[in-house]
Amino acid sequence: MNNSQHQQKQVAIVTGASRGIGAEIALTLATDGIAVLVNYANSPEKAESVVREIEHQGGQAIAVQADLSHSEAARALFDKAENTLGKVTILVNNAGIMELSPVAEVTDASFERQLSLNLLGPFRLIREASSRLADNGRIINFSSSVVGLYQPTYAAYAATKAALETMTKIAAKELGNRGITVNAIAPGPIATELFLSDKSEELVEHIKNMNPFKRLGEPEDIARVVRFFSKAESAWINGQVIRANGGII
Ligand SMILES: NC(=O)c1ccc[n+]([C@@H]2O[C@H](COP(=O)([O-])OP(=O)(O)OC[C@H]3O[C@@H](n4cnc5c(N)ncnc54)[C@H](OP(=O)(O)O)[C@@H]3O)[C@@H](O)[C@H]2O)c1
Repeated sequence: MNNSQHQQKQVAIVTGASRGIGAEIALTLATDGIAVLVNYANSPEKAESVVREIEHQGGQAIAVQADLSHSEAARALFDKAENTLGKVTILVNNAGIMELSPVAEVTDASFERQLSLNLLGPFRLIREASSRLADNGRIINFSSSVVGLYQPTYAAYAATKAALETMTKIAAKELGNRGITVNAIAPGPIATELFLSDKSEELVEHIKNMNPFKRLGEPEDIARVVRFFSKAESAWINGQVIRANGGII
């Protein structure tokens, strides 16, 4: 946002904001006075509880159900945000799923689930944003540091994220003429359901030790980076991938 934009009302769409990193992003942006559309797919109670917490702190938010692997969801989210909160100034493409298995065992269905949510979902929202996001707005996509780690079992998931990084850089060049920046954040391991489910304590301990701080990231480690992108100070950062991972790579 430039300074004059900052005087105007800011409205953010945060996808997958019912829990994990997205919930923390919604709470953080709302603390800064930004009205937030809290998107979710399957967890209405969790999304409503994020909204209630924001309202309790004097902020404005609405919870909106939309499965972003469906093609009509992007338009519906923008419609809802515009009709209830105002013109969208920030799009955070956070929703994502991870299904791990060796290439030999990845099913078409699993790859397609990850593609449709992790890549097609953000693509459709970026396409919608290209005509509907406010001038000088912000698009923040979610990649993952696994894109650079090349670990066995991550092929399908990492491929969806690598493709999104490429799209981020191209969209940044296309939308820059309206002052919009498009960047990606590539977190390392963060203590959320997506990371912790199906991992043994030993494996979690091993992964913790892969970064020099010897801890997992927390959702607020990532929400702070999103906050930076929401501010005027980030205006010259465009088409970049920020590897927010404590130095794992
Ligand atoms: N955690 C990590 O270690 C890590 C590391 C690198 C990158 N990332 C990326 O960071 C992002 C957030 O991850 P997280 O760890 O916070 O995940 P999480 O805890 O599993 O939360 C996922 C969020 O996405 C929503 N979601 C799932 N399927 C959806 C769909 N079809 N349509 C719309 N929303 C949907 C969920 O909503 P419901 O509650 O309604 O299901 C939930 O709010 C993802 O893009 C992930 O790939 C995470």
